Amino acid sequence: MKNGLIVSKIKNGTVIDHIPAGRALAVLNTLGIKGNEGNRVALVMNVESSKMGKKDIVKIEERELNQREVELIALIAPSATINIIRNYEVAEKRKLNLPEKIEGILKCPNPACITNNDVEARSRFIVISKLPLVLKCDYCETTLTEDEVLRQILL
Ligand code: CTP
Ligand code: ZN
Repeated sequence: MKNGLIVSKIKNGTVIDHIPAGRALAVLNTLGIKGNEGNRVALVMNVESSKMGKKDIVKIEERELNQREVELIALIAPSATINIIRNYEVAEKRKLNLPEKIEGILKCPNPACITNNDVEARSRFIVISKLPLVLKCDYCETTLTEDEVLRQILL
């Protein structure tokens, strides 16, 4: 990195790098990290990146991510790379792959949608476009924009 390390390397855990600038908090939210878990978390926002102008980075010690968490990050930070760190080394680098359907995470904005009225129904959205993100409810076809997805995740 041109300007040197802003936060130190970690021994074990996960580094989520190349997050679009300003979205680190949304990434922490998708992981349910509140800060009272006790493990060290580093959050870097708006640092220079040769690839993307500016970026955010999140480092979480002693935590690896499951598949669902990786999918959630793919929704709001498709450019991110997930680095699994073991004993100071990058043991694995995972690219994000946005699934074609997103189930049970987001809420349909249409109050009349069956997913908002039947307790048994799970929400299901089809990915119409990845950049910018556009989703469509599989039941009522209401669209969900990237801004709306971010708003829901930041709630
Ligand atoms: N990292 C860390 N602690 C370690 C090892 C790596 O915090 N013990 C961080 C690095 O600072 C970097 C990210 O994990 O932000 C990925 O590390 P690395 O693959 O070495 O960096 P790059 O080659 O720059 O990654 P990329 O090609 O994905 O840009
Ligand atoms: Zn709907």
